[in-house]
Parts: sequence; C-alpha cells; structure tokens
Amino acid sequence: MRIEVSITVFLLTLLLVAIPGVAQETQVSAASEVEVTWDQVRAVFQKRCFACHRGEQARGGLDLSTVAAIKAGATSGASVVSGKPEESMIYTLPAHLENPKMPPNGARVPQRELDLIHKWILGGLSEKTSELPVASRSSSRTAASRPLPRPRPQPASRPKQTLAPAMPTGTAVAAAEQPVGPARPSFAKAIRHQAGVVTAMATSPVSSLLAISGQQQILLYDWTDRSLRNVMAFPEGDVFILRFSRDGSLLIAGGGKGSESGKVVAFETSTGERVFEVGNETDVVLAADISPDGHFVALGGPSRVVRLYDTTNGNLISEIRKHTDWILQIAFSHDGLLVASADRFGSICVSEGSSGKHFMTLRGHTGAICGLSWSADSSQLFSASHDGAIRVRDLHTGLETQQILPGSGRLLAFDRDASGRLVFGSSMQKVSVMSPEGRLLTSASMSDEVTHLQITQDATHVIASDAIGNITLFSMEDGQSAGQISPPPASARIQ
Ligand code: HEC
Repeated sequence: MRIEVSITVFLLTLLLVAIPGVAQETQVSAASEVEVTWDQVRAVFQKRCFACHRGEQARGGLDLSTVAAIKAGATSGASVVSGKPEESMIYTLPAHLENPKMPPNGARVPQRELDLIHKWILGGLSEKTSELPVASRSSSRTAASRPLPRPRPQPASRPKQTLAPAMPTGTAVAAAEQPVGPARPSFAKAIRHQAGVVTAMATSPVSSLLAISGQQQILLYDWTDRSLRNVMAFPEGDVFILRFSRDGSLLIAGGGKGSESGKVVAFETSTGERVFEVGNETDVVLAADISPDGHFVALGGPSRVVRLYDTTNGNLISEIRKHTDWILQIAFSHDGLLVASADRFGSICVSEGSSGKHFMTLRGHTGAICGLSWSADSSQLFSASHDGAIRVRDLHTGLETQQILPGSGRLLAFDRDASGRLVFGSSMQKVSVMSPEGRLLTSASMSDEVTHLQITQDATHVIASDAIGNITLFSMEDGQSAGQISPPPASARIQ
C-alpha cells in the first residue's frame, strides 16, 4: 500500500515537473480580464463533448453546441452559472471536481482546455467569436493554444437571458463549422466534416483491415493504401469499442446512447453484413471482446457489470458484478479460458471465459485502465493505466512479475505485439515503442494527447489517433510517420 502511494506521489511529481505549462496556465486563468471567446470554448466542446452533447441526441439533455443551448441547461437544471465556474457543471464535471466525470470514458480534458472553460464562465459567457482562418484540421488546437487576445474591458452587464433559439442540428450547425482538411471540391457540398474524434479503433489480426469509429457508423479501411473499403451503419448510437475476431472474419462494435441503451453488433468483415447482436444495456457499451472461438461476447460499461453472452442464440450466460466503477477494457485470453475486465478505478477482474465464474482480482493500478493484453500462452496479463504504469501479472500466482514506469505521463492507449514489444500513447502526446524488458526503442509525437492506438497485423506499423482527430501511421522500427488517414472520414457524413 505504502509503495503504491509513493508511486502515485512519484508520478504526480513527474507530471508536475514534466509539464511546466500546467502551472503556468493555471496562473493565466487567474487573470480574468483576458477574455476567452466563444469560438475558443466551442472548439474544446467540439472535440471533447459534441459526440454526446449536441443537438437532439444530447446526453443528459445538455446541448453544448450554442451559447443559448448551454444557458438553457440540462435535464437536471442549470449547467452553468455566469461568473461562477465552480458552480457550473460544464466546468466541474470535466475538471473532475464533481460526479459524473466528463467525458465518461475516463480521459480528463487537458488543463489548458479546462482553463479556457473556466475563464469563459468567469468572464460572463462571451458570445464573441474572433475570426480565425480555419485552414487545417488542427484548427481547434490553434484556437485553444494561440496567444490570447489583448485584455478587453469586462462587459458592463451580464449577457441577456433571452437569446436566439438553439440552432437546429442540421444545416445551421454545419454552416457554422468550417470545412476542414485538404480541399475536396467535388465533395464540398455532399460531405460535411465534423470534429473527427476517434472513439474506437481496431486492426485485423490477419489482414490489413483497419476499423475506425464514425458518427453512428464504422469505417473499414485498408491501412496499406489507406483506402476506404466499407462503411457499416451503427444507428444504435456512438461506437466506443471495436474488435476483430481472432480469425478476422468478424468485427464487433459496441456502443449505444448514453443513459439509454447499449449493445454489441457483429459484422461480417468481408460483406459488412450484420451477423448477430447481443446486449441490452441501459447505458452505452464501453468495452467488449469476442472469445477466440467466436462463441462468447463479454461487454461492459457504466453499469459496472460485465455481461457474458452466447453469440449463437444471444442468451445472457453470466453477470460479473465485481467492479466498483465503469468498465473500460475487456479481453479474452488467447486460449479463451479466461476473460479479464478492467475499470476506471484501476481494478482488474479475471473470470472464466465460458461461465463468468470469478477467478481472481488484480489490484494495484491507481488510475483508469487504458489497455489489456494477454501473453501468447495466456499465463500473463499486461495492463496499462492512467497512473502511468504498465503492470505484468502472473495468472498462476496472481503476483506482479514486472512493472514498467515509462515516465510519459498518463498512459491513454496501449497495445502489444506478438514479439512482446509494448506500444503506448500518452498524455504527453507521444506514441512510444518499448522492448519487452521496458527499454525505449522509438517514439513519435502527435499534435495532442494520444487517444487510441493499434499495432498492424504484421507488426510493422502502429496506427494512432489523437484528441483532435489526427490518425497517423507510424513505423514501429523508427517511429517515422508513414502517412495520415485524413480528413477523418470517421466524421464525414453523407447528407
Ligand atoms: C461519451 C459521451 C459523453 C461525452 C463525450 C461527454 N458527456 Fe457529458 N454526459 C454524458 C452522459 C451519458 C450524461 C448523463 C449522465 C447521467 O445522467 O448520469 C452526461 C451529463 C453531463 C452533464 C450533466 C447534465 C445534467 O444536468 O444531467 C454535464 C454538465 C456534462 N455531461 C458535461 C460534459 C462536458 C463539458 C463534456 C466534454 C468535456 C462532456 N460532458 C462529454 C455523456 C457524455
């Protein structure tokens, strides 16, 4: 226990030392006379919150796409108090000062963006927008990180309460957004680009197929030439987890609508046709896996219960009620005998793969788990966490055999190849490759926090996404970029 505490302290120290910007920006936020404009805050909401808080589909009844809608509040009442960020849920929830934490998948919004929201509320919810040339996909980042405008006098009165009606979700909002990415004249009218935030990604274990989440759809690519191969509709809602079956023939997608419904759908990879559906959650599915023989699907999410289904008839086989927080990761062992589930609190439960019977609980992590990986012989389980550590446990003894502290801030994405190389993405905007012993082999930078990554089937490349929607292909050998998948087609919607 004492060791864990000291590790946490060590990590916190590391974070504070390593991110000098954090301390600085907090100071800046105290200078409330510097006005933060709506477009700056909107850029933050767009990339962090719109997936769930926009228009008619808004979760919790909170639409963050216009100032008017924000002031209109949510189902449970006011979400913002002008001038009082500490009393405003649109600040306190993403800042993790209150529950439920936002966004719900565990990744905290970067400090500099929280500071923008804080300042914007403090300054009286400015509706001003500074005309920004939006030339590239990284525009939202530019908006958030460019030099602040010169101080302006505070508005004399609080903004009016009666405002234009909230924009309809369709054209008006689209018009307010600039087209991003390379100009594509022929598609300019047909496709509108939205905040291309990747919420799930998977690579096939046997082919060059890459699946990426879109808006109520799944896009299937060939990563070698980055061509789009198929698009599968997911009207069930947002996609939060994608997994290929071990033979690559099936792709399972989990997700749903927040506080409403969630399920897992399996598609045939070759045709894109639906094969089966399982699950009947009252909230989204955030984690799922399909057993190596394709017979079982385990799924979980905010309900804290892992449910095991028989894919042949859709029947619920078992419920694993050992978690005390949202389930974020699920992985069957390669022999299918065990299934590991991990939560936002850092606990991992290992259960029997076909019955859900409890096998063992693995504690130690002090932050949300961002990735699980089994060794080929199913005797070891690797886990990576926001606490900055990768832990290796022996499943025969339940003991930790190795702990790797890469010192890269919070670990936000994790994968491991057949030769044991560890790949992780961090809050320090880096994708790193380590040897099985924990020696850094190579690393590459992204433009923002790394949100997802996957090693390709041939272990030559890693495909990673960041918080502003970049999807980049890196060589595992030298970390060189081998191209981008852009503009994020995950956000392209044909009207
Ligand atoms: C993955 C979907 C998702 C994302 C992304 C997300 N939220 Fe939420 N949010 C929800 C759900 C679901 C609820 C309802 C929670 C509940 O009722 O327990 C909610 C509720 C809220 C509420 C409370 C509304 C109320 O009064 O009940 C606030 C405020 C909020 N979110 C702010 C944010 C902000 C700010 C962001 C971005 C930083 C964000 N959320 C990102 C899903 C999301």
